[in-house]
Amino acid sequence: MTDMEQDPLWYKDVIIYEIPLKSFFDANGDGIGDFPGLIEKLDYISNLGVTAIWLLPFTDSPLKDDGYDIRDYFSVYPPYGNLADVRRFIEEAHKRGIRVITELVVNHTSDTHPWFVSARSTRASPFRDYYVWSDSPEKYRGTRIIFSDSEKSNWTWEPKTRQYYWHRFFHHQPDLNFDNPKVQDEILNIVTFWFSLGVDGLRCDAVPYLFEREGTNCENLPETHAFLKRLRKEVDRLFPGRMLLAEANQWPRDVLPYFGNEDEFHMAYHFPLMPRLFIAIAQGDRKPIVEILGQTPPIPDSCQWTIFLRNHDELTLEMVSDQERDYLWSYYAKDSRMRLNLGIRRRLAPLMQNDRRKIDLMHSLLLTLPGTPILYYGDEIGMGDNVHLGDRNGVRTPMQWSSDKNGGFSRADPSSLYSPPIQNPVYGYHVVNVESQVRFPTSPLNMLRQMIQVRQGFRIFGRGSTTILHPKNFRVFAYLRESDGKVGLILNNLSDATESVLLDLSRFDGYTPVEMFSQSEFPKIRKHPLHFTVSPYGYFWLYLQPPDLPSDHPGSS
Ligand code: NOJ
Repeated sequence: MTDMEQDPLWYKDVIIYEIPLKSFFDANGDGIGDFPGLIEKLDYISNLGVTAIWLLPFTDSPLKDDGYDIRDYFSVYPPYGNLADVRRFIEEAHKRGIRVITELVVNHTSDTHPWFVSARSTRASPFRDYYVWSDSPEKYRGTRIIFSDSEKSNWTWEPKTRQYYWHRFFHHQPDLNFDNPKVQDEILNIVTFWFSLGVDGLRCDAVPYLFEREGTNCENLPETHAFLKRLRKEVDRLFPGRMLLAEANQWPRDVLPYFGNEDEFHMAYHFPLMPRLFIAIAQGDRKPIVEILGQTPPIPDSCQWTIFLRNHDELTLEMVSDQERDYLWSYYAKDSRMRLNLGIRRRLAPLMQNDRRKIDLMHSLLLTLPGTPILYYGDEIGMGDNVHLGDRNGVRTPMQWSSDKNGGFSRADPSSLYSPPIQNPVYGYHVVNVESQVRFPTSPLNMLRQMIQVRQGFRIFGRGSTTILHPKNFRVFAYLRESDGKVGLILNNLSDATESVLLDLSRFDGYTPVEMFSQSEFPKIRKHPLHFTVSPYGYFWLYLQPPDLPSDHPGSS
């Protein structure tokens, strides 16, 4: 790693690319993506400008929840490769300046994990207390059901030992009992194992649900925070400079405690922002975004939000009002097959009706709003989804590398692929693929690559403060990003019409706005409001060049 990459706050400057290993590239032709395949494609990832990979679970698992149902925390699911492959992958990623973030599935295991197999076999099992048991399914009644389409209760009856066990997700994912100190120690062991292997960060799955207490909703409990502080302390002691990312699908005020006093997580997802980006672009109105950012409290200096548009799950609509959810469902998921639990199981391009202007605008928002952006594999080329596949599988189809057999993903017989690739006339691999998009400069892939490149030249995006501007025209969402005396001005037109907007920038009297992509100069800012005309779904990224800098200085840091 270079000196810059030694920065302990590295996670503020990276661009994260999320990858399900099985979907990326199959090197050995068995129909499933694997580590050697991923290693082969590292140059592609690096060319995109990505500087961190978030790899979905890859340890041994029956894959009933795509690896979030863990059978063994210490070995690799054999079709993906082995630990030597993981080491090689980390090494190769690091060589290219790419950080590696893997998963810590902390809340539950698979019911095939040897701990649970033993625990359910007899009440005398030494592992019985690794899980949460009850004689009655009435306990913890105030707890919501997350996978509401498939589970009717958070309790499942275990006939052999005649008790119920607790699970916040699928019934085949029993929750670990964090009241048991041995469970806490096991988790710390797992963390030590993966950090020792060289991963740079751990994305900690489902952290609000670690403890249960009667009379509460069993989320965000003080006991949970106490354990997480213990975890952080160990990480800081043994592995300084590594990063912990919280998956806590909660309102910003409830996520805030997960940063603690810089003694819990380094990063946390901003879940409520994401659906509001989709409402704003549908309504052509910045209000939902402005409101949620207004409700987002400041976070400690060393901490950072991660933001995203889509991921491997349904587009979750838990952090919106009932009215907003109904709106989003009726706008984006007219066909009931597009809905799952409290969400929408579709990818970015189809959600944007494959409108390039809207896709680019969403990427403009993702790359300029406060936080570290996460891209979901395939969205960079505008891949589609398949609502005919069950659960969330429709957004986890094979990466489309070329128009060759299986989209260039695998040499296997099509019938032995883990999933059919997308083959429809709009999004199918014959039309949407990497090979074609690298060849023309205006492709979605090349556009995004360019945006990433520009963003990486300005530390204001990863590190800067954000000031939202409030021009009269509510269809334009404009804000300043500032750090170390450098200023960026971003405008996003959320509507399908050309919009004119007046911005009061008198604070920057004498500065010259310079377009970040072309470096072309705009008229100097004066005391009176500055007028901009923004094309439908258009955006401007401008650097405000101070009066005393020579005019050819692009302002990059
Ligand atoms: C959140 C993950 O993103 C999701 O894919 C998984 O099903 C649940 N946690 C349970 O582990």
